[in-house]
Amino acid sequence: MKTEFTAVVPVAGAGTRLRPHTYTYPKVLLTVGNKPIIGHIIDELSAAGIKKICLVTGYLGGKIKEYISSNYQGLRVSYVEQPEAKGLGHAIWLTRRCVTGPVLVTLGDTIISADLGKFLDSKDDCIAVKEVADPRRFGVVEVANGYIKSMMEKPEKPASNLAIVGIYSFKNSAKLYGSLERLVESGRTTRGEIQFTDALSLMLKGGHKLKPVAIDGWYDCGKPETLLETNRYILNRKKFPVKVKNSLIIPPVYIAPTARVSNSIIGPYASIGEGAVIDSSIVSDSIINENASITAMNLNGSLIGPSAIAVGRRDQINIGENSEVRFDKRDCDL
Ligand code: UTP
Repeated sequence: MKTEFTAVVPVAGAGTRLRPHTYTYPKVLLTVGNKPIIGHIIDELSAAGIKKICLVTGYLGGKIKEYISSNYQGLRVSYVEQPEAKGLGHAIWLTRRCVTGPVLVTLGDTIISADLGKFLDSKDDCIAVKEVADPRRFGVVEVANGYIKSMMEKPEKPASNLAIVGIYSFKNSAKLYGSLERLVESGRTTRGEIQFTDALSLMLKGGHKLKPVAIDGWYDCGKPETLLETNRYILNRKKFPVKVKNSLIIPPVYIAPTARVSNSIIGPYASIGEGAVIDSSIVSDSIINENASITAMNLNGSLIGPSAIAVGRRDQINIGENSEVRFDKRDCDL
């Protein structure tokens, strides 16, 4: 019988780079394509056969629990609270009492297009990596004879251009938690945080073997521009049915069934949430969240929070939940 993995997904961070949206919404509940980031992650995990998920929540965690309990009744989801975001290593260490047997760790702000079977079926413990042009803002691995020789978090002089991209699998979680325990007990931090990479380095130093697994698709959702890039990737992957009035659709787009679109040009790469109202506007490469209202706008590269109202004519805006902007009347004629 195939061994049953538990997926650990840390989602406790405050998502500061995505303010103002993350003032009222945790990052994982921000929409990309047709649903929140966490929805895409859970669907990928379920499709790979994972039935047990442990989420590390903190900042606005109640909203995450609410979303999951109303949308994923069939899954076994447990929650561990990280009251203060002390680093990824700390977040994962907190899950030690929730997990027995094999564990798959996947970050809460990354959507990965990879065959998870490569991780779940491997006889080795694996870390997903991807070649990047400038690896200095990532964890970086050095490889020798098919296994990882060393790793460093955000090195100034990277040993390679292989970046760690947020999926890790361990056949024996006790070894991983043992290493995290030693790290936490030692009080060691790097750049003020208890780093997961430091716990993995300790495992390497103890002779543990970690295999790099190269993956192609890796979509970050941590910043406005990468969220929009991930939105484009998701819209390209699937065709969604649309219903609009007197409007031109330039695919790919997602328009939620209860959104009302009239007298507008939508797309390419527009994602319109439930209950949103778009009238007399042009919207491309943008995410319009639920119940937002857009009138006489020309939007490109924009993120519009839930229930926000925008009236007027500007090219790029980034406004949060319940905000309201109205541009000068002279600018309003489309
Ligand atoms: P990030 O550092 O990218 O997320 O962590 P963040 O801190 O929320 O974002 P910024 O930098 O303020 O914009 C990657 C993932 O690890 C989780 C985050 O929630 C995110 O899903 N994480 C990070 C934790 O759960 N706890 C931590 O202490 C750190």
